Amino acid sequence: MAFDLEMIKGVYARMQERVEAARKIEGRPLTLAEKILYSHLWEGTPTQVYERGKSYVDFAPDRVAMQDATAQMALLQFMQAGRPQVAVPSTVHCDHLIQAEVGATQDLKNAVDKNKEVYDFLSSVSNKYGLGFWRAGAGIIHQVVLENYAFPGGMMIGTDSHTPNAGGLGMIAIGVGGADASDVMSGLAWELKMPRLIGVKLTGKLSGWTAAKDVILWVAGQLTVKGGTGYVVEYFGDGAESISATGKATICNMGAEIGATTSIFAYDARSAAYLRATERAEIADAADSIKEYLRSDDEIYADPATYFDQLIELDLSTLEPHVNGPFTPDLAWPLSKFATAVRENGWPEVLSVGLIGSCTNSSYEDVSRAASLAQQAVDKKLTVSSEYTITPGSELVRYTVERDGYLDTFAHIGGVVLANACGPCIGQWARHGAEKGEKNSIITSFNRNFSKRADGNPNTHSFVASPEIVTALAIAGRLTFDPRTDKLINSEGVEVMLDEPSGLEQPVRGYAVEDAGYQAPASDPSQVQVLVSPTSDRLQLLEPFAAWEGTDLKGLKLLIKAKGKCTTDHISMAGPWLKYRGHLDNISNNMLIGAVNYYNEKTNTIKNQLTNQYAEVPAVQRDYKAHGIGTIVVGDENYGEGSSREHAAMEPRFLGVRAILTKSFARIHETNLKKQGMLALTFAYTADYDKIQEDDSIDILGLETFAEGQPLTIVLHHIDGTNEEFPVNHTYNEQQIEWFKAGSALNIIRRSVGA
Ligand code: F3S
Repeated sequence: MAFDLEMIKGVYARMQERVEAARKIEGRPLTLAEKILYSHLWEGTPTQVYERGKSYVDFAPDRVAMQDATAQMALLQFMQAGRPQVAVPSTVHCDHLIQAEVGATQDLKNAVDKNKEVYDFLSSVSNKYGLGFWRAGAGIIHQVVLENYAFPGGMMIGTDSHTPNAGGLGMIAIGVGGADASDVMSGLAWELKMPRLIGVKLTGKLSGWTAAKDVILWVAGQLTVKGGTGYVVEYFGDGAESISATGKATICNMGAEIGATTSIFAYDARSAAYLRATERAEIADAADSIKEYLRSDDEIYADPATYFDQLIELDLSTLEPHVNGPFTPDLAWPLSKFATAVRENGWPEVLSVGLIGSCTNSSYEDVSRAASLAQQAVDKKLTVSSEYTITPGSELVRYTVERDGYLDTFAHIGGVVLANACGPCIGQWARHGAEKGEKNSIITSFNRNFSKRADGNPNTHSFVASPEIVTALAIAGRLTFDPRTDKLINSEGVEVMLDEPSGLEQPVRGYAVEDAGYQAPASDPSQVQVLVSPTSDRLQLLEPFAAWEGTDLKGLKLLIKAKGKCTTDHISMAGPWLKYRGHLDNISNNMLIGAVNYYNEKTNTIKNQLTNQYAEVPAVQRDYKAHGIGTIVVGDENYGEGSSREHAAMEPRFLGVRAILTKSFARIHETNLKKQGMLALTFAYTADYDKIQEDDSIDILGLETFAEGQPLTIVLHHIDGTNEEFPVNHTYNEQQIEWFKAGSALNIIRRSVGA
């Protein structure tokens, strides 16, 4: 599990030279985010200014982290690159597939049985290609990364939206899709639009019932779920230094809820303390030696409004505890206003379950503060009214808090400890009775509270708060309780009040663990066989896609002309299909089933030109494939918006679609198509969309001289014997044209490593 100190020292050595160069080019002081971004340019030392919100930049991240649901396809693709080892340090974390039902031990056992083939695959592929593997029960990706791999000034991508958690330790950490992870592990650059910057100036100090979580709950209320899109949020000011490293991580984690690219805090004494407590004193020493590079320049702090695109200020001394929700994390209520909101909106006042933990809030500090309240409940003879669960973020935290007696304390109030995994946070919660769909309230210390997310019941009103507030409300058993002002009646009929929570930032006796759940890669990878059963319906090894045949594409059939919105969800649906994420053939049976057919306005009903019958999109496409006929998909505006899900590009490629022709593309999807060796084309004149007819055969001409900036030509052969021709545009650069010719970007790498 050891972090790579030499790699980190290398980053620091480069950082000094590159930050100086960037400062010169920009001609102004730099923020922390800019320092880290400029020191991770793929091109090396910066030679040009990259404009915020405009320029697309190639980066060279230091690390990759993947969770088990997204790692499957990322690693199957990585194997296509033919590299003997991953190009950058990478880890896999088995946390998403464990269902919470009765408690940690039994739930973990069930998950290991049920997901054995997935875990065996991930373990063997990690072993063979040099990835660190954290098995089921080891913990949640972001907590494990924070404890082991995050480092100030680093840059990481992770296949999970809460990857920014590592910003608590001063790292630029960004959530991506599996294709990006596979590219970086294969040795390719990673592209991002230069983010804009929001500065959040924190003054004052947290105290009493207020916790780090309340900072981000308040910020979410200010910025809303879209306010951070395209931005890095940088927190600074005296107030920032009063927050522990894990508290900072909580704030950065939930930056995902405002849509931020990532969030970050500067390196400070609290970061150093956490690094030292988690046995990474060498990193703290290295960071101390360049600490002026691990924070924004002083001029920025002196005049933030000049340098940030947007500035927000918050006095922590005046910040109240918050409860956000229901159904959206940006509906922010200061606790003093929450009870009225509950009553006025008719939300169920009785609290059914309080859930603490998750990747957002399961540090030693969080657990110890929540436990201080649980202990008060015991001491003050209070009967705890709601169900109460604890999800530790890692085995390191779980073992340590058990040793220090906190889990016993929770047991005294009826708390159930769940596995060190995502569990209810990702809907992996077999909540008894949820299927009845009854109206009820829960409150969690997690990050998301969308309808149905936790238990599948659309009538569950889910609220988000700090672990302290979750615990206090669970003790009271109602949402309208304010522990700062309200009394409770104990089992002896006496009125009592809860005192403010107290806790410890780090364990006095240090962290401890017997088996952290880590598997280092094999010392002799040649002996390792990647385990994929040929009969598996969840996993399938990939075959490289065929190279371009070297000629124009003629006689393609129109597969579907999609009308209106066609997101990656329409192209590759989630829900029950998630199970097949590692099996391209099986998941391809969802290809474009959500797209609306222009000709009949129906979904998943298109004409098969070979039979003249209407059938499901995947079935029709498979029929063309069986007859060796290529096809073309036509789309409307912003085709492929939504997530970066690579399956939306891989499925058409796998089933034999040759080109996607649209009015416009969502950029990430367009790039994903290019990487998979597909043609992504746009109408030069959007009115030409109307020329496409249901029975068309289509030629794409000009491929033999395919070049950057040169349009291609589409010829439509209509069923009445007439033809029409029009130009189509593309955005392929020279390298991307090579991807097309080779059959995929990974085929190029494969060639370059001689596989
Ligand atoms: Fe898992 Fe929930 Fe975090 S799903 S990674 S615990 S946001």
